[in-house]
Amino acid sequence: ASSDLPSISSQETSQALATAALHLQNLETVVFPTETVYGLGALALDASAASKIFSTKGRPPDNPLIVHVSSFAMLRTLLPPDYMLSEAYQALMKHFWPGALTLLFPRNADVVPTIISANQPTVAIRMPSHPVARALIAVANAPLAAPSANTSGKPSPTRAEHVQQDLEGKTGIILDGGPCGVGVESTVVDGLHEDGNIRVLRPGGVTVEEIERVLEKEMTGHIPKVLVHRRDFRDEAIEHAPTTPGMKYRHYSPSVPVTLLFTSSSPPENTRPMTITSFINALIHSKLDEDQCKIGMMATDESKIWDHLHTASGIEWHRYSLGSVTEPAAAAHLLFDGLLTLDRAGVDQILIEEVHESREGLAVMNRVRKAAGESIWLTID
Ligand code: TXA
Ligand code: MG
Repeated sequence: ASSDLPSISSQETSQALATAALHLQNLETVVFPTETVYGLGALALDASAASKIFSTKGRPPDNPLIVHVSSFAMLRTLLPPDYMLSEAYQALMKHFWPGALTLLFPRNADVVPTIISANQPTVAIRMPSHPVARALIAVANAPLAAPSANTSGKPSPTRAEHVQQDLEGKTGIILDGGPCGVGVESTVVDGLHEDGNIRVLRPGGVTVEEIERVLEKEMTGHIPKVLVHRRDFRDEAIEHAPTTPGMKYRHYSPSVPVTLLFTSSSPPENTRPMTITSFINALIHSKLDEDQCKIGMMATDESKIWDHLHTASGIEWHRYSLGSVTEPAAAAHLLFDGLLTLDRAGVDQILIEEVHESREGLAVMNRVRKAAGESIWLTID
């Protein structure tokens, strides 16, 4: 089914779901939409099915997968029989499930294969809210492991076309559910520490502010702190080492270089200062052949940087809006589509202006920092 069709008959949908479920039961992979990004799914409880996810994506085996469930009964089957949900987890599940929140649980080794957890004692689980994702899990009647449906290192897909362009010929069935609403991956939370605090391992669709608000409202006893990885704590185990020696670790990277631009009045950490004039000259001279250089620029609608840059001659500008600065959820929704759209438009380089690191902006900047090879602090001359 294509998202271009005005309406898809329910019969067509149930047939597509039945075919996809059969495919999964035959231990094959299926690409399906979720509210965050498209997922590359396979039966989570079958090691050989799950291993196809790693080979299709070229994913390092030390990076564990998220298991997706469609009901609380299905969640139960994955947990150790005597495991009790904490008050914090109950509050978070009540508010954010189904949705863009992934929680770590102790892994029931009798049920969840080691390949899913990459040998960790925990397993990451979420209940997606997208109706197609929920229906697929329910029809297959089995939990599905699903990372984002991209080649390892590339931006995550938020449209079926992104998957087609990236994984062409590598995966059989792609269920097209139109563009994903959230646009960045789920927030990964570890609430298993003895101190009772909530550790955000990966910021995502559910914001830290929302998590704090829910814990404050719902908890009767001590209110846990919400700690953000790299901001409030560090965890060596989740800071992946480069898997290929000599290669810079890449993540969320299109095929062309990405540069992160700051325009704050004081210099941020680890940025190279440059004046706008010297930056533009460097862009023009980075092109070795006779062709005019094509630059993709991603920024919010209110960005001042655009006024300074786009009038420069000798550059063909391609602008991709990240929406209004007042709506960080729009930037999250548009980020991966922007990177993939500009890459496909054949630009030589993509520039992204920083967004404010609050609400969904935290997840956006987390992805942008990983995608960017270089960070530059631009000053007006
Ligand atoms: O929104 C999403 O989460 C999407 C959709 C498809 O559901 N999935 C997704 O999966 O983003 P993936 O594989 O691209 O990212 C999974 C993240 C990784 O950062 C991984 O390290 C972390 O979750 N993770 C999974 N299991 C973990 C575990 N047991 N302990 C710590 N981190 C874990
Ligand atoms: Mg991913």
